[in-house]
Amino acid sequence: MTATTVVVRVPTAEHMRRLGSALGQVAQAGDRFLLEGPFGAGKTTFVQGLAHGLDITTPVGSPSFVIETRYTGRLVLYHVDLYRLDRIEPELLEALEEHLFGEGVTAVEWAERLPGDLRLGGARLLIKAEDGDGRRVELTSGDERLRRAAAFDPE
Ligand SMILES: Nc1ncnc2c1ncn2[C@@H]1O[C@H](COP(=O)(O)OP(=O)(O)O)[C@@H](O)[C@H]1O
Ligand SMILES: [Mg+2]
Repeated sequence: MTATTVVVRVPTAEHMRRLGSALGQVAQAGDRFLLEGPFGAGKTTFVQGLAHGLDITTPVGSPSFVIETRYTGRLVLYHVDLYRLDRIEPELLEALEEHLFGEGVTAVEWAERLPGDLRLGGARLLIKAEDGDGRRVELTSGDERLRRAAAFDPE
C-alpha cells in the first residue's frame, strides 16, 4: 500500500466537521487518524465530525488532563490528546498500542508525539492555517477508501 496525499481545502469549522463526518462514515475497525497541526488548527473540530460520522451522540470536547476518551457509536472511538504529555509513560504506551491496533477507531491529536512504530499504517492529517478561517488538510494514507472520502465535495 503506497501512501499518497490528498489536499482538502476547509474554509470553515463546519466544513472541518463535514470532512470528519465523511471519514467517520467510511471508517472501519482499526482505522487510525493521526492529527497534526498547531493549537487551534481544528484537530478537535475534526474529531467532532468523525464522531458524528460514527453515529456517536455524546458531544466530543477537549477536557483538561484527560489523555484518552472512549465513545461508542457504530464503532468504538478512542479520542487521544497528547498535548499535555511531557513524556509518554510505558503504561500509557501499552494502552495506546492496544487501542490503536485494536478493533476501534482512533483519533490522536498531537500525533507527532507518538513513537514511530505506533504511527505505522495510520492516516496522517496535517492541518495548516490558510487565509482567514481557512485551513488546508493534507491527508496521507495508503487506503483509497479514506482518500476518496476526504476528497468529497463538502458543499
Ligand atoms: N476552517 C476551520 N477548520 C477548523 N476549525 C476552524 C476553522 N475555522 C475556524 N475554526 C475554529 O478554530 C478553532 C479550532 O479549535 P480546535 O478544533 O479545538 O483546534 P485544536 O484541537 O487543533 O487545538 C475552533 O474554535 C473552530 O471553530
Ligand atoms: Mg484539540
